[in-house]
Amino acid sequence: MSPEREDAGSQVSGERGRLIALEGIDGSGKSTQTALLARRLDALATWEPGATALGRELRRLTLSPGPDDAPVARAEALLMAADRAQHVVEVISPALDAGRWVVTDRYTGSTLAYQGWGRGLDVDGLRRLARWACAGVEADLSVLIDVPVEVARARLRAAAPDRLESLDLGFHGRVREGFVALAREDPEGWAVVDGSASPEEVAESVAEAVRTRWGRP
Ligand code: ADP
Ligand code: TYD
Repeated sequence: MSPEREDAGSQVSGERGRLIALEGIDGSGKSTQTALLARRLDALATWEPGATALGRELRRLTLSPGPDDAPVARAEALLMAADRAQHVVEVISPALDAGRWVVTDRYTGSTLAYQGWGRGLDVDGLRRLARWACAGVEADLSVLIDVPVEVARARLRAAAPDRLESLDLGFHGRVREGFVALAREDPEGWAVVDGSASPEEVAESVAEAVRTRWGRP
């Protein structure tokens, strides 16, 4: 039995935890799947943006700005990077160092897809920014929960849309294309699951992607 299999609990003595990022467009089901996967792995569940005190302020500035305060694309990218830098140091690294696995609802892939493909910023520049912000703490695996934009929008219709969620189908279509391109160019680092199935079926596909790599859950 591998050490990973033996250490199915939250603490793995002497061994660093793994970081798994769930990625996808708004309404793809990431929050639902983050909770389900974290429960299966007995991992720490977290999210971006806004999982720290600073992050909550940055989230408010980015997603709920005043009428004249909407950040321009580069400012938005920098605010997301600042959120991630704080998130890594306050939340993610301490857990990984203690041997805990971490499941995060969004990580670097979101910056590349939203600010790169969505807003049109230079993707290589964003990669450098993202790498610098996370100080070497990269996701061990990113899982794209892939759904057509129309499916995601139908799910969100009932919820109050925030600024980014209220963006048009064209924007979210580009973001989805970005995620698909990121997954295609790095098949080692990414897995893609069909997010249109039931939550239970999607959870099984996500767990299978993790199991394929590490033999658990
Ligand atoms: P995200 O975090 O990607 O925005 P959520 O997990 O918050 O997505 O899900 C958005 C909405 O869709 C919620 O109302 C949630 O209950 C619902 N939902 C999540 N997963 C599914 C699914 N597989 N099928 C149908 N509805 C879903
Ligand atoms: P949130 O309400 O958390 O949406 P979701 O449930 O879909 O994750 O809002 C996060 C928004 O921030 C979402 O529209 C994506 C956006 N975002 C970026 O544009 N860049 C980033 O780097 C991150 C982490 C999020």
